[in-house]
Amino acid sequence: MLRNLTLFTLTFALFALPAMAADSNCLSCHQDFEEQDGPSHKFIRDIHRSKGLDCVDCHGGDPTLEDMDDVREVKGYRGVPSHAEVPRFCGRCHSDAAYMGQRNPSLPTDQLDKYKTSVHGKLLFGKGDKNTANCISCHSVHDIADSRTPHSTVYATNIPKTCGRCHADEVYMAKYNIPTDQLADYQQSVHGMALLERGDLGAPACNDCHGNHGATPPGFSSISNVCGNCHALQWELFDNSPHKIAYEENDFPMCETCHSNHKILRPSDDMLGITEGSVCLECHAQDDGNHGYETAAAVAESVNKLLVAHLGARALLNDAITKGMMTTDEEFRLKEVESALLETRSMVHAFNIDSVLSRSEAGVAKADSVTANAASLIDEYYFRRRGLVVATVIIAILAIALYVKIRRMAG
Ligand code: HEC
Ligand code: HEC
Ligand code: HEC
Ligand code: HEC
Ligand code: HEC
Ligand code: HEC
Ligand code: HEC
Ligand code: HEC
Ligand code: HEC
Repeated sequence: MLRNLTLFTLTFALFALPAMAADSNCLSCHQDFEEQDGPSHKFIRDIHRSKGLDCVDCHGGDPTLEDMDDVREVKGYRGVPSHAEVPRFCGRCHSDAAYMGQRNPSLPTDQLDKYKTSVHGKLLFGKGDKNTANCISCHSVHDIADSRTPHSTVYATNIPKTCGRCHADEVYMAKYNIPTDQLADYQQSVHGMALLERGDLGAPACNDCHGNHGATPPGFSSISNVCGNCHALQWELFDNSPHKIAYEENDFPMCETCHSNHKILRPSDDMLGITEGSVCLECHAQDDGNHGYETAAAVAESVNKLLVAHLGARALLNDAITKGMMTTDEEFRLKEVESALLETRSMVHAFNIDSVLSRSEAGVAKADSVTANAASLIDEYYFRRRGLVVATVIIAILAIALYVKIRRMAG
């Protein structure tokens, strides 16, 4: 039975082989003369090939012909698209909902439409600019990969490099009036470090803020609004804060104003208050007719008070631990103080002292009670130790008395 099956497979393969070769004259002839990095060799790894498409599906022609000159004569042979033709060349299938629906209904068919709204697309269709990105600048060509596979040029961890190929190249970007520091800045940012160094796919790559194909990601009127997608809490606080309207009126972007866009560094308490390094001082001064300055001072003070209370509790608890006391409950409560500290720092974005105090005061109260409990644990330790000394003395006296008595009896 097994032998029959093998025979059948072999026979089938023998018949099938020439048929497949005839189907892909384009591929086999091109492989014969192209270098290893030529289209036909690269194409072996292309998603289109693994989904059963061939050269002819993009370029046109007749795959059974054996001469390139004949191929070029075939009606509908498209040849090589120019830079400006590429988006429609790809869009012929990718914008065709009926076609894609049969192939893979879950794949969006809006790439070309969105691309047209982007700065890249407008430059291409409006000005025929050859420097601007088209589909293959981001996706490559002949070795296009499924975007979810780690070797894809548009996989999250490869995106910064893909965009940076143009945007970090001063010469390439020379004729445009925009900076070329986005990649370098991003690499130093909390987001860049999280994604590129720790592989944290929750951190945004360029496209999470700028969109894959459109001018902005879906659902956003401006790129400056995307932060709230992931930082919902800070976003909501800001949205209900006095800054909301003030920023809109002054055209200040919401989050970037204090955190920047590409070089977002790890925030610290130094950004608060009325001393050097405070972001508040960039816009608020004493006596400028609103409560900005006073609030800045009060917020910093309340964060500081909580920090000091936490440090005090921690130190005393450590002392109790070295004395061997049971501190599990207090450790747990100190964790809650740490959460209160995080919440207080987030609450900064309400730009309202009462909101900040609502978290910090609760934290301080908890820290104080940990301190008090740690102190009584330490007292208990000394009490027990005193008890131990008394007991030791009594035992010693008894032992001596016993010794004396035994000596006497012996004597
Ligand atoms: C018998 C070999 C052979 C076959 C079969 C063949 N090609 Fe070619 N192809 C060539 C050669 C040779 C060139 C030209 C290289 C040059 O002139 O520099 C070429 C050039 C091309 C080009 C570049 C644009 C142009 O028109 O010159 C494309 C695109 C192309 N082939 C696609 C195809 C497709 C699609 C098929 C199948 C339908 C195909 N080829 C079949 C040999 C072949
Ligand atoms: C998904 C669509 C697609 C498929 C499939 C495809 N090509 Fe192409 N091909 C293109 C595009 C787009 C260009 C233009 C590249 C550019 O502007 O750099 C191109 C350019 C070319 C060129 C000329 C430029 C060069 O790099 O030398 C040749 C030759 C070529 N293709 C051959 C092939 C062959 C042979 C196959 C099959 C093995 C194939 N292509 C499959 C889209 C495709
Ligand atoms: C002949 C129709 C056709 C043309 C032309 C075409 N594609 Fe595709 N493309 C497909 C099909 C079919 C798939 C596979 C869809 C599936 O089954 O997931 C695909 C898949 C893709 C994918 C992977 C999608 C994913 O899941 O990440 C990318 C990226 C892609 N194509 C880009 C391009 C680019 C860029 C061009 C132009 C150079 C192009 N395609 C031209 C039909 C086409
Ligand atoms: C500026 C870079 C860029 C350009 C230009 C670009 N893409 Fe994409 N493309 C991406 C990114 C980034 C993704 C998403 C990767 C991911 O899923 O995280 C993507 C995803 C895709 C996908 C997978 C399905 C989807 O929509 O998520 C297809 C198909 C695709 N692109 C086709 C195209 C076509 C066709 C064009 C030209 C009209 C094009 N792309 C232009 C960057 C680009
Ligand atoms: C092939 C080169 C190239 C690639 C790749 C490329 N871009 Fe661009 N991009 C340009 C050019 C050229 C401009 C036009 C600059 C201008 O006119 O201000 C531009 C403009 C932009 C702008 C608008 C800048 C402005 O004027 O406000 C953004 C945002 C942008 N690109 C983001 C990206 C992102 C994100 C990626 C990767 C997913 C990317 N680009 C990939 C070349 C490229
Ligand atoms: C956390 C979100 C975010 C990430 C990640 C991000 N950007 Fe931006 N980017 C912005 C914002 C916000 C602006 C300002 C847009 C505005 O004011 O309209 C901007 C502006 C730009 C501009 C316009 C010129 C400039 O510098 O002001 C370019 C080009 C650009 N980004 C490219 C990139 C590239 C390339 C990457 C990846 C290396 C990237 N961005 C990553 C949010 C982001
Ligand atoms: C796709 C989701 C996403 C988007 C969009 C996003 N971030 Fe983040 N952000 C993260 C993640 C994940 C981290 C955690 C990185 C870490 O801690 O190492 C983070 C960290 C931060 C931090 C440091 C937080 C801390 O506790 O140290 C700041 C500040 C920040 N982001 C601001 C922004 C701003 C401003 C924007 C918009 C311009 C933005 N983020 C857009 C996901 C996002
Ligand atoms: C980019 C400029 C800018 C920065 C930075 C800034 N503010 Fe403001 N803030 C404003 C503007 C503008 C107003 C509205 C002033 C008005 O209505 O008179 C405002 C209003 C306020 C108000 C309401 C004042 C009132 O009397 O209603 C408070 C409170 C406040 N800011 C606190 C802060 C704190 C705390 C910081 C630092 C964490 C800060 N601001 C940083 C620009 C800024
Ligand atoms: C007026 C200045 C200002 C604006 C506007 C601002 N922040 Fe902050 N942000 C701060 C300061 C100051 C800190 C540091 C607090 C600390 O560590 O004591 C901070 C800390 C953070 C943190 C880390 C602490 C936490 O909450 O987890 C994140 C994340 C953050 N900001 C995100 C955002 C986002 C998202 C926006 C826009 C909705 C935004 N910020 C707008 C001043 C600002």
